Amino acid sequence: MPSSVMPTSPLSSSPMAVSATGLRKSYGDKTVLDGIDLRIPAGSVFALLGPNGAGKTTTVQILSTLITADGGQARVAGHDVAASPDGVRAAIGVTGQFSAVDGLITGEENMLLMADLHHLSKREGRRVTAELLERFGLTEAAKKPASTYSGGMKRRLDIAMTLVGDPRIIFLDEPTTGLDPRSRHNMWQIIRELVSGGVTVFLTTQYLDEADELADRIAVLNGGRIAAEGTAEELKRLVPGGHVRLRFSDPAAYRNAALALREVTRDDEALALQIPSDGTQRELRSILDWLDSAGIEADELTVHTPDLDDVFFALTGSTDQPKEAVR
Ligand SMILES: Nc1ncnc2c1ncn2[C@@H]1O[C@H](COP(=O)(O)OP(=O)(O)OP(=O)(O)O)[C@@H](O)[C@H]1O
Ligand SMILES: [Mg+2]
Repeated sequence: MPSSVMPTSPLSSSPMAVSATGLRKSYGDKTVLDGIDLRIPAGSVFALLGPNGAGKTTTVQILSTLITADGGQARVAGHDVAASPDGVRAAIGVTGQFSAVDGLITGEENMLLMADLHHLSKREGRRVTAELLERFGLTEAAKKPASTYSGGMKRRLDIAMTLVGDPRIIFLDEPTTGLDPRSRHNMWQIIRELVSGGVTVFLTTQYLDEADELADRIAVLNGGRIAAEGTAEELKRLVPGGHVRLRFSDPAAYRNAALALREVTRDDEALALQIPSDGTQRELRSILDWLDSAGIEADELTVHTPDLDDVFFALTGSTDQPKEAVR
């Protein structure tokens, strides 16, 4: 056959691992989810961001069939969450926001318990347990009570337990909250390895750098709705705030520069000026040329490009966070 194949990105041609339309959930008269839509291609990482109480855990609970929605539809791994929750459960793994590890028994026993729940044979259960404990660096601690594990070790055990059934889609509700920087990076590595093995990852996080680092697509949940959805780059383009900041140590030099440069934001206290900029090389060069020709020499020049923090604060309407740009 002659091929006239349209180039398609691997993601756009993938089947959807998760799709949802109009999901709604209320507790009493409190509307938590007010109609949310999701489309997550198989093999990708999706991050759901939102302030405390936004409904992230609620969304995970609905998609993993732990609770039912009041309205809307959702399909996970090709199964309708309401009509065939067993089909969904067989395809997914869930690591909750709060640890499912039983501290009274050892890490190994926690794993074997999961293997039992997944109806693995004794032999298969032992094999999978040994393999996962090894992979998560827990072999040495395997025979110690889980209550003696550090937070990072418990979190790793939690995820290892989630992987016992070899799920194709995993839900990780704040997988790195409370971990130190090294443990967070280790967790990111684990998540990347899962994805390279074809697993779809749905994660919630409070950390914008985590979403930036891991996620193919990010959605920001606020006020019961998806306030914005896209790649990290797309989201960053939604907010202004890129600027070049010039700082002076000499008040006279600062005043002269402030007079010479119009269209700048002054920070008289810090002796700093901010010039709006998109952060591109071209714009930086023209700003530098302009400063040179005006004979302005700042003591420090920093470039601020909008990051996901800016996006988050802009979209979630937090007013108690001072914006870098107006400081
Ligand atoms: N079982 C419940 N009964 C009543 N209200 C609930 C219940 N579960 C959640 N809520 C409420 O629903 C809202 C959303 O909760 P949810 O746990 O989904 O938020 P979250 O985005 O995961 O927050 P966090 O970042 O703190 O984990 C909150 O206001 C919470 O108090
Ligand atoms: Mg939560």
